[in-house]
Amino acid sequence: MKGAILAASVTATLLVATLACQTSNTPTDMPATDRKWWKEAIVYQIYPRSFQDSDGDGVGDLKGILSRLDYIKSLGITAVWLNPIYSSPNDDNGYDISDYRGIMREFGTMEDFDALLKGMHDRGIKLIMDLVVNHSSDEHEWFQQSRSSRTNPYRNYYHWWPAEKGTPPYRYSLFDVNHDAWAYDSLTNAYYLHYFSRKQPDLNWENPKVRQEVYDIMKFWADKGVDGFRLDAFQFAAKDTTFPEFPKGYEKNFTLYYAMQGNLHEYLKEMNREVFSKYDVMSVAEGAGNTFEDAHNLVDADRQELNMAYAFEGVDIAKPEGYSLLTFKEVFSRWDSSFAEKGWLSIFLANHDQARMVSRFGNDSPEFRAPSSKMLSTFIMTMRGTPYYYYGDELGMTNGDFQRIEEFRDVQTLNEYQYQKNQGADMARFLERKKFESRDNGRTPFQWDDSRHAGFTTGTPWIKVAPNYKTINAAAQEKDPNSCLNYFRELVKLRKNNLALVYGDYTLLDEANPNTYSYTRELDGKKFLILLNFTSTPASTNTGLDVSKARVVLGNYPQPSRDGKLQPYESVIYELP
Ligand code: GLC
Repeated sequence: MKGAILAASVTATLLVATLACQTSNTPTDMPATDRKWWKEAIVYQIYPRSFQDSDGDGVGDLKGILSRLDYIKSLGITAVWLNPIYSSPNDDNGYDISDYRGIMREFGTMEDFDALLKGMHDRGIKLIMDLVVNHSSDEHEWFQQSRSSRTNPYRNYYHWWPAEKGTPPYRYSLFDVNHDAWAYDSLTNAYYLHYFSRKQPDLNWENPKVRQEVYDIMKFWADKGVDGFRLDAFQFAAKDTTFPEFPKGYEKNFTLYYAMQGNLHEYLKEMNREVFSKYDVMSVAEGAGNTFEDAHNLVDADRQELNMAYAFEGVDIAKPEGYSLLTFKEVFSRWDSSFAEKGWLSIFLANHDQARMVSRFGNDSPEFRAPSSKMLSTFIMTMRGTPYYYYGDELGMTNGDFQRIEEFRDVQTLNEYQYQKNQGADMARFLERKKFESRDNGRTPFQWDDSRHAGFTTGTPWIKVAPNYKTINAAAQEKDPNSCLNYFRELVKLRKNNLALVYGDYTLLDEANPNTYSYTRELDGKKFLILLNFTSTPASTNTGLDVSKARVVLGNYPQPSRDGKLQPYESVIYELP
């Protein structure tokens, strides 16, 4: 069975490669002003720590990425989002910044950064930087000053609660070993607020000086020529600094209390005036609030805040116990329809905070890993919105192989382990869950080839390489016309050449089918039909559309379905006459 599928799919790519190239960009009736580079972008996300090490210290670095630019270009993607590369003590792998204008020592120097930016621009690739300003590192000079005395000019850069007022109202922390977002600091007999780890104190956005500092930092990078910013955890930035009591148990739905509070929109408008309006940079915030209204308030163009929403409802569907395709379809269709007229979305199924796409949403068994991975990539690349595609997913990289707690590296996993242990929880069960869902699963080194450590480093990798690198690696897939890698390249080409896949109307078909996802994308008379089987068995879809005269544009099987009967994890894209 396995052999048959593999052999079959070799021919499939050959077939589709030819067909995809035949489709060209259609002229469009769309007003030119509605077209935006960041809507048409295909973003490839790189976790720099795990992409390519150049100096043998076991940690990926900027020179490593630089050495792989031709590979990145060969994917066809048009923009890269780099996770943080700034100076950091790495409590949370760079999401704890100690100098916003410096480069992390392990990652290289500012010269390396300048070379990387130039190398990308020379290849027509834009660079989007992560901007982490809900909090800094506790090792940032601002925090060092702030904690030194209650009268220090930097005191109000952070949130402090003087201990003589008693214990502060409970605030839940996502990463703290006690889930407590207030940390006591004896130096000034006060507590400081940290929604994430103790080494990530929250900045006080209510202080105009903090806001000006951030805009200056953004201008520093925009002046260097970067093309966009992803605002980390920014929906949490504004706070009610009177710190009222929240209802007991609020932490189960903490985003209702943390996201989109107070003056957040005013700050974004100010940021837009001060920075975005002065440069051709794109902006996306992590998270899109709690409602569609929140999301629209962030990104509707006339509000002059951000460009696109990055909402979690879709990516959050998959759980260790599985997920329902009906829910998946409902969620993605609901978000699409809410943004059909106004605003713009991101489309993604993975990032550095999630386990691997194929392990969560597909099937990572040897038999179905490749077809299910290609099918999920087809989904991402044919939906409306800007695709954010996570490094390694183009190879169908799977979850890592973490067995013991000592093998994990992620602060969230390690601190939660400690918390659960203190609570007397069933730790075997906890570990089972984390083996599936820990963020470390999505952070294993890129699998370049079958040499030691997958060609990622000559030293000892900072995190365990997934053992399947001997068979799943870029070098092997380069040679295989039918590989996930080459299929992804065809998908990218197709999307770049067809505005209908970017801007076209989306219509869900065969809605109640629990096994297949079928939809059309249509613009200016050009119409694509996409059929996806999300199961490991044959499944039928009844779209009511006649595909007998349709052209198969791309598919992950050599004999694409012609009658709505889809093979396991089959994906097929038709162009309808
Ligand atoms: C965001 C990042 C995550 C990080 C957290 C704190 O959620 O994506 O990786 O740990 O913010 O900065």
